[in-house]
Amino acid sequence: MRNAKLDTWVEEVAALCKPDRVHWCDGSAAEHDEMIRLMVHAGTAVPLSGDKRPDSVLVRSHPADVARVEDRTFICSARPEDAGPTNNWADPAEMKATLNGLFDGCMAGRTMYVIPYSMGPVGSPIANIGVEITDSPYVVANMHLMTRVGTRVLEVLGPDGEFVRGLHSVGMPLGPNEPDVPWPHNIEHKYITHFPETREIMSFGSGYGGNALLGKKCHALRIASVQARDEGWLAEHMLILKLTNPEGRTYYITGAFPSACGKTNLAMLEPTLPGWKVQTVGEDIAWMKLGADGRLRAINPEAGFFGVAPGTGMGSNPNAMRTLTDRAIYTNCAITGDGDVWWEGMSDEPPGDLTDWLRRPYQGTLRKAAHPNARFTVAAQQCPVIADEWEDPAGVPIDAILFGGRRTNTIPLVTEAFDWTHGTFMGATAGSETTAAAVGAVGQLRRDPMAMLPFCGYNMADYWGHWLSFEGRTETSKLPKVFFVNWFRKGADGKFLWPGYGDNSRVLKWVTERIEGTGQAVDTPIGRLPAPGALDLSGLSLHDGAMDQLLSVDVDGWLSEVALIREHFGRFGDRLPDAMARSVDELEARLQAAGVPAGAR
Ligand code: GTP
Ligand code: SPV
Ligand code: MN
Repeated sequence: MRNAKLDTWVEEVAALCKPDRVHWCDGSAAEHDEMIRLMVHAGTAVPLSGDKRPDSVLVRSHPADVARVEDRTFICSARPEDAGPTNNWADPAEMKATLNGLFDGCMAGRTMYVIPYSMGPVGSPIANIGVEITDSPYVVANMHLMTRVGTRVLEVLGPDGEFVRGLHSVGMPLGPNEPDVPWPHNIEHKYITHFPETREIMSFGSGYGGNALLGKKCHALRIASVQARDEGWLAEHMLILKLTNPEGRTYYITGAFPSACGKTNLAMLEPTLPGWKVQTVGEDIAWMKLGADGRLRAINPEAGFFGVAPGTGMGSNPNAMRTLTDRAIYTNCAITGDGDVWWEGMSDEPPGDLTDWLRRPYQGTLRKAAHPNARFTVAAQQCPVIADEWEDPAGVPIDAILFGGRRTNTIPLVTEAFDWTHGTFMGATAGSETTAAAVGAVGQLRRDPMAMLPFCGYNMADYWGHWLSFEGRTETSKLPKVFFVNWFRKGADGKFLWPGYGDNSRVLKWVTERIEGTGQAVDTPIGRLPAPGALDLSGLSLHDGAMDQLLSVDVDGWLSEVALIREHFGRFGDRLPDAMARSVDELEARLQAAGVPAGAR
């Protein structure tokens, strides 16, 4: 069955980009194998040892194309104020003119692949169809693992169905006798652009991750967030986990942490608390809609994991390691003499005979073996703790939402919001230190509201308004409880105060006890903290005073935080929802009351 709009668009794009040939992807295993074969021939990929990593390859990108490029990412809404102060805005007509110039002839010497994909189980009422056109076999192979690709998607699309249009090119046409390079890209011109009103994406010049796999951040977050606002649902940068307690009671919890701040790890964590079990529904993106029962239901729109490799090992994330037994694509990792991959944190000691991601003999800790944003791509189905219901078209009902960030100081291990508005305020004011997931300085504190700073396709202030509106869309008691967590607090010695990883189950346990109304909490100016003894720390030995630091309110630190929040909110002018402005005043008043000695009040 042909879709007329799709056929016309593909013809137009082929006429513009002038590829040697056009290939419609069917998503088959044979097609996947062919993409891998092409990459190996081109020197893009190296097959790994059939004993160690069957049906897997290592890909090494150009060192100038290793992460998302936020400064080259644009929201091209008709009006600049609809993109808001946190996005780069460009006029849609001007941007299209620029891009049409760049795309003209950009696929010469290459094959143009047409990838029909579904975000969400094919045919699910919550799912959404997109078509990515690309000239990169690496993108095709990754999309095979990350989304549901192929002919069955076209069947659901039907003759007149709507789809998100994503056009991608590495931006490096080849002359008649010009050889290709292992990682084609365009060092001068990189554009990751979104046209939210017409549901279009155009990405030029980068072949890496979120810049190029358009179903992920471009579609499932930037375009979908706009669609979600228009239609009354939420498209979020969140993991989704299923938690089962020793009595067999289950909970579904989502968590919005910025890039490289622990979503994949939490989503498949192995609890250190006996009798508790975590299973994975999603590890990067959640689409949440109100169900007929008035509860928020979440689906994972993706079909695979594009996970951070460094720091992943049997000690930190054994279930990720067990997912990576075969059929994976590794990008920018190191390779061992016997054809296995390696990265910092996979084992304490690096193996001998290691070649780093830049193809140099590994010289020890002076230089990293793997790029800090090295990634693995693997089908979610391979995860040994994937939840049975992970593809349930109806989604799973959410009991709690965690916001978080990477904060060395000030922010406690866990804080419960007083109510939905306060929870929205916590999300809206989240700060986090930057990571290698985006190009730029690492470790810089910035506001990353709901972990959506680089991914919200419209004005962030309107987005908070949209979050606040959920209180009016269903009964308050049916909305998830909201918490803020921080696994990354450091002590004076510069070491993490909290062991993290599997021990984060201790925090999850308290969250479920708060849901049940049994967990003890104390009200503080910033929210509800676990009462002394309320967190289950059995079997854990922490440094003296660590828990006090992790669970106390640093009033001075918080007053400085208030100043940063005011600055952050100030950027949105009168678009800022009143409830957010009120929330910061109330927080400050509570802190001041707490900070002043009783006698002086
Ligand atoms: P994206 O895929 O970029 O969205 O990242 P993510 O949020 O899924 O982060 P991920 O789980 O891949 O973790 C990123 C880094 O943080 C890895 O190096 C982890 O080892 C580290 N990390 C994850 N959880 C914890 C934790 O509880 N404590 C500490 N100290 N580090 C953690
Ligand atoms: C992130 O940066 O949040 C990622 C990786 O999940 S990427 O797909 O490159 O956006
Ligand atoms: Mn992410």
